[in-house]
Amino acid sequence: MSSDIIDSILHLKAQRRAILLAHNYQRPEVQDIADFIGDSLELSRKAATIDCDVIVFCGVHFMAESASILSPDKIVLLPELNAGCPMADMVTVSERRRVKEHFKGYVEQPVYQFPHEFTLRDMKTKYPGVPVVAYVNTTAAVKAESDICCTSANVIDVVNSMDSDIIISVPDKNLSMWAQRHSNKRIITWDGFCNVHDRITKTDVVQARATYPNAILIAHPECPLEVLELADHVASTSGMIRFCKASDQREFIIATETGILHRLKKDSPEKLFHPLRSDMVCPNMKMTTLNSVLKALQEMKNIVKVDEEIRIKAKTALDRMLSIK
Ligand code: 13P
Ligand code: SF4
Repeated sequence: MSSDIIDSILHLKAQRRAILLAHNYQRPEVQDIADFIGDSLELSRKAATIDCDVIVFCGVHFMAESASILSPDKIVLLPELNAGCPMADMVTVSERRRVKEHFKGYVEQPVYQFPHEFTLRDMKTKYPGVPVVAYVNTTAAVKAESDICCTSANVIDVVNSMDSDIIISVPDKNLSMWAQRHSNKRIITWDGFCNVHDRITKTDVVQARATYPNAILIAHPECPLEVLELADHVASTSGMIRFCKASDQREFIIATETGILHRLKKDSPEKLFHPLRSDMVCPNMKMTTLNSVLKALQEMKNIVKVDEEIRIKAKTALDRMLSIK
């Protein structure tokens, strides 16, 4: 059955000159049919340079938007249009809204006390002239209102590249605090967070280390700073994969979304990987299935396209980031 679906996907992919990009958190079977798997930075670079007519983005909405911003002449399909990133929606340019409203349409998530009806424009008014670094986990509109983008792979380089001693960083408070630890700049952080990573605690780390005393701990910078400070290594998702592959260590505790374990095990089959917590699952990343990929290619309906005025401004912020490293 699934081999029939795979055959149909491959057939349509060739017919439509489509390329499948998949994030490291995608379901194993989706990763296995992808042309390219990566972290946000790698996928952005790929989307900017790839030769095809159609990009099928197996990830969440902001990632498909970035692909469309960087490759406006290509059709960008998001197999599940409701696959969003709750953190990306925690900052708006000027719209004042409450969390319950913005979670409508997404997979049910715990509701947090956010936002305080504060917008990016309010922040810019409060700190006039201070440049804004936007994590790629933001909407195209927020990118368009920002000076430069960053990902978890390059946030420290991006912040340190800025020609200002003070910087606004949105939306992830944890990523921003991690950058602050590695920079002499003063970073004003937004109050956003990823609900998959932010609920990790020091106790989780202590328990995991007790269970796997020979393992080293690798964490994603979306985890709280107190967790990052206990980690042996902090990296983006692809940074984790590279680190584990190159390491002499045999056993690892992985503090990020569990989808990454598929690639870690595939890339380093002789090594042992344990999730820090087995409930580190992003429901939005898991929405995409082989069936939804096939349907997207059959119907060519789930197109993500950014308004041209916003696209040009957002592209400037993404291009500045891509020119750094
Ligand atoms: P990476 O850029 O490290 O892959 O992270 C993306 C993301 O959404 C993390 O939650
Ligand atoms: Fe967004 Fe967190 Fe899911 Fe990444 S893991 S897409 S930051 S909700």
